[in-house]
Amino acid sequence: MAKSPKVLILNGPNLNMLGVRETAIYGTQTLTDIERLCLRKAKDVGLAADFRQSNMEGELVTWVQEARIKSDGIIINPGAYGHTSIALLDALRMTGKPVIELHLSNIHRREEFRHHTYTSQAATGIICGLGAHGYVLAVEAMAELINKKDSA
Ligand code: DQA
Repeated sequence: MAKSPKVLILNGPNLNMLGVRETAIYGTQTLTDIERLCLRKAKDVGLAADFRQSNMEGELVTWVQEARIKSDGIIINPGAYGHTSIALLDALRMTGKPVIELHLSNIHRREEFRHHTYTSQAATGIICGLGAHGYVLAVEAMAELINKKDSA
């Protein structure tokens, strides 16, 4: 049987605190709850998911670099690094794989400093403001993007 395509799902700083962090904005689900949702959806759509979180920019950059070889697509909630990290943008640009950027909150309805994200410039598509369900939609969309590429 052919191996399932792989999606790397990355989470940036402070997302390990979901469930206790500003719950009015981010909801009460923990990152472990979200991981469970992603793995279930990935299985449904025939993807193998690798779900990770780091508070360190360099570690996220290294994981994105590795994805060039090890993964077929990347879903990333870069957290605040989306607004600041040119290094993450550069790494994402190198992958040559579909990239979906995702934010739990609608960053465009929040403080002005959240309106711009460097990482979006490397994204195939962006989902924001749909809470944890955004991750499920991102996995579904990633399956489409990977399948489309395979049949191209
Ligand atoms: C976030 C939005 C960012 O502005 C913030 O710094 C986060 C979370 C979101 O998922 O809504 O850490 O990426």
